[in-house]
Amino acid sequence: MSINVEDYFARETFQKMKSFADQQETPFVVIDTQMISQAYDDLRAGFEFAKVYYAVKANPAVEIIDLLHEKGSSFDIASIYELDKVLGRGVNPANISYGNTIKKSKDIRYFYDKGVRLYATDSEADLRNIAKAAPGSKVYVRILTEGSTTADWPLSRKFGCQTDMAMDLLILARDLGLVPYGVSFHVGSQQRDISVWDAAIAKVKVIFERLKEEDGIELKLINMGGGFPANYITRTNSLETYAEEIIRFLKEDFGDDLPEIILEPGRSLIANAGILVSEVVLVARKSRTAVERWVYTDVGKFSGLIETMDESIKFPIWTEKKGEVEEVVIAGPTCDSADIMYENYKYGLPLNLAIGDRLYWLSTGAYTTSYSAVEFNGFPPLKAFYV
Ligand SMILES: Cc1ncc(COP(=O)(O)O)c(C=O)c1O
Repeated sequence: MSINVEDYFARETFQKMKSFADQQETPFVVIDTQMISQAYDDLRAGFEFAKVYYAVKANPAVEIIDLLHEKGSSFDIASIYELDKVLGRGVNPANISYGNTIKKSKDIRYFYDKGVRLYATDSEADLRNIAKAAPGSKVYVRILTEGSTTADWPLSRKFGCQTDMAMDLLILARDLGLVPYGVSFHVGSQQRDISVWDAAIAKVKVIFERLKEEDGIELKLINMGGGFPANYITRTNSLETYAEEIIRFLKEDFGDDLPEIILEPGRSLIANAGILVSEVVLVARKSRTAVERWVYTDVGKFSGLIETMDESIKFPIWTEKKGEVEEVVIAGPTCDSADIMYENYKYGLPLNLAIGDRLYWLSTGAYTTSYSAVEFNGFPPLKAFYV
């Protein structure tokens, strides 16, 4: 398998990033902010009626927060630390949603004191905490969705609740003096099956209708989360196709008079804009007759590539070396045997690949820097450059 860089980057963009990369010591990630800007515009064009809340967890760099803030994005925030960061960049608390369903009461109060009035929940205990610490706020309830087998990085099970419980929570929200505002879901990150949104939207419709008819509660918001694709080895439909289909599902259920729609993209906005550059530390075989080579690089699971866990995300890997290709196992530099990125899925790398050669991991702008360990085996966190 060999990668055609032009399937991932415009030629000039790649040349510009590579020239910059050539001047730096590996490992690091280099991110083209222009591509993020374009991805934001494309998403807005696909979903003209939706409000975008950037999921800061994907990459919390101030360069990205500032760029998206300037372009009018709102922000999905998971902790008081992310909150401080975006407020420090001048983001208005009215444009922030506390999207984490797992939170301490004192953290809810912190958000409330800073002016945030929109909260996600999926359990009674959390809802009661919100009612006490953030009185009168708007809440939306996250539901469980299908689709965990077709998402490369599933988010179901841990978050969300069944439809019946979601309705109970929204009624309780009203009784506790909160504003029962809407329903959210996340179909799983890097979701390759668009029809999963259809099923999720249908569940939301049931909740909207039943609460209106049976309890007089008129919900206003659907938060459709993230899940839109980045370009990895396993190809997906284009964002335009996702948008067309999802809009069709929404209109089938809600007609032309759609409720407020929020999107919380992370991966799809940022991933494609990044190239992680690493260097080959060693190439080895495990026996005299072993056919398989092991390629060890100076990045691994603990320095930004955690999403290779279970080989979930298959990053395209490019090298300048050409020639006959052979299957390899690719592993990181640390003294932990879990630090193997790809062993079952067979990457092919040129036979003449040698110590000191560089590997270019494409589409690595999201969930790399923010996942990098701080000091495992003494290795520093992954460096990042924004060009
Ligand atoms: C609540 C919430 N919203 C949005 C996102 C971003 O999802 P994605 O990166 O698939 O766009 C996540 C990812 O973990 C999330 O938990």
